[in-house]
Amino acid sequence: METGGIKICKGVFLIKAEDIIIRKWQENDAAGVRKVLKLSWEKAYASFIPQTDLDLYLDKTYSESLLRNMFNNPYFICYVAEFENTICGWLKLTMDKSESRFYISSIYVLPEFQGLKIGDKLFNIACEEATRNNYKEIYIGVMTQNAKALKWYQNLGFKFIEEKPFIMGRTSVPHLIGSMILNK
Ligand SMILES: CC(C)(COP(=O)(O)OP(=O)(O)OC[C@H]1O[C@@H](n2cnc3c(N)ncnc32)[C@H](O)[C@@H]1OP(=O)(O)O)[C@@H](O)C(=O)NCCC(=O)NCCS
Repeated sequence: METGGIKICKGVFLIKAEDIIIRKWQENDAAGVRKVLKLSWEKAYASFIPQTDLDLYLDKTYSESLLRNMFNNPYFICYVAEFENTICGWLKLTMDKSESRFYISSIYVLPEFQGLKIGDKLFNIACEEATRNNYKEIYIGVMTQNAKALKWYQNLGFKFIEEKPFIMGRTSVPHLIGSMILNK
């Protein structure tokens, strides 16, 4: 049940939006980040990507050691959302020097924390970081079948301009690239 910024999960505990902390991630957040990715991918993608491919992609791309490498790579800027020592959201920003583009390359919120405006807060941080790093535009990629997220981005002002496949494990899905000009 959702009541503004408060969410009651399975009648058991109460999440208040103001109790959620957003902070830059630390190396030892890797396990919590993997959990956010695993559970949010299952909810968003399981209807069109087999579980084995989700698991394969998670282990190949976001193993704890690769996440630690990412932590030391200056082209990635990452934040987490945290509620009572539980990582409940993850934002990864990528400065793609080859394309000269600033991407929101991951934005995921644990299913039971969705709809609490954590996504909005992470998006605002993405815009601030893009501006701080002298980018005038921000890019996002979203799978065409992920209709809820696509709508969310369109509501934020993204225009989708390109389509290219995205490969997750052995499954290839259509994927849209959108962009938005900052500080219009
Ligand atoms: C998309 C996502 C990051 C948005 O974050 P969020 O914290 O749930 O979103 P917010 O609370 O800031 O905004 C909620 C709005 O988004 C919409 N929305 C989109 N996807 C949603 C979802 N899975 N659950 C709840 N609301 C969702 C709601 O309709 C709501 O609209 P409203 O404000 O007009 O009522 C988050 O829902 C998520 O992780 N979804 C699954 C994974 C995903 O698809 N990530 C993007 C991959 S490209």
